Amino acid sequence: TFTDAEKAAIVSILGKVSGNVNALGAEALERLFLGFPQTKTYFNHFDLSHGSTDLQTHGGKVLGALVEAAKHLDNLEGSLSKLSDLHAYNLRVDPGNFKLLSHSILVVLACHFSADFDATTHAALDKFIAVVSHVLTSKYR
Ligand code: HEM
Repeated sequence: TFTDAEKAAIVSILGKVSGNVNALGAEALERLFLGFPQTKTYFNHFDLSHGSTDLQTHGGKVLGALVEAAKHLDNLEGSLSKLSDLHAYNLRVDPGNFKLLSHSILVVLACHFSADFDATTHAALDKFIAVVSHVLTSKYR
């Protein structure tokens, strides 16, 4: 569960993300694939070149899901249930990859919203993305 201060920080930053999910999401994916090339194995069917439509579209879906999740901080399990089924039963993404993507997303947010990114906000966002990742990897067995 999140404190009121954590909720405020999460809602504030994700509100700013919402207007630019494709570009920010593409950047997060590009950092993921450059920093951790083993993560590319899940995306053989994508064009992973810089700025590609695939990166923009998929990045938009991932950050869009976080924007949506930020509206349901008191019920993340329920609101992410379908996405959790998809990652656990269908995609079977190794849970370790969620830490790598979480890191990449956090770096993108720190770069683009540096004025807001004090230590409290950093910690709240880290917790939020970790909880979302936990929900998405909780049905694996
Ligand atoms: C699909 C969100 C982590 C691999 C998706 C979709 C969303 C999403 C919204 C699209 C679902 C749909 O089309 O109905 C997230 C979120 C994550 C996360 C919020 C963590 C914060 C990961 C990780 C990997 C991964 C760590 C692997 C490195 C995939 C793949 C697809 C997918 C392969 C299907 C892509 C396609 O063929 O279109 N994810 N995801 N996801 N995700 Fe994730």
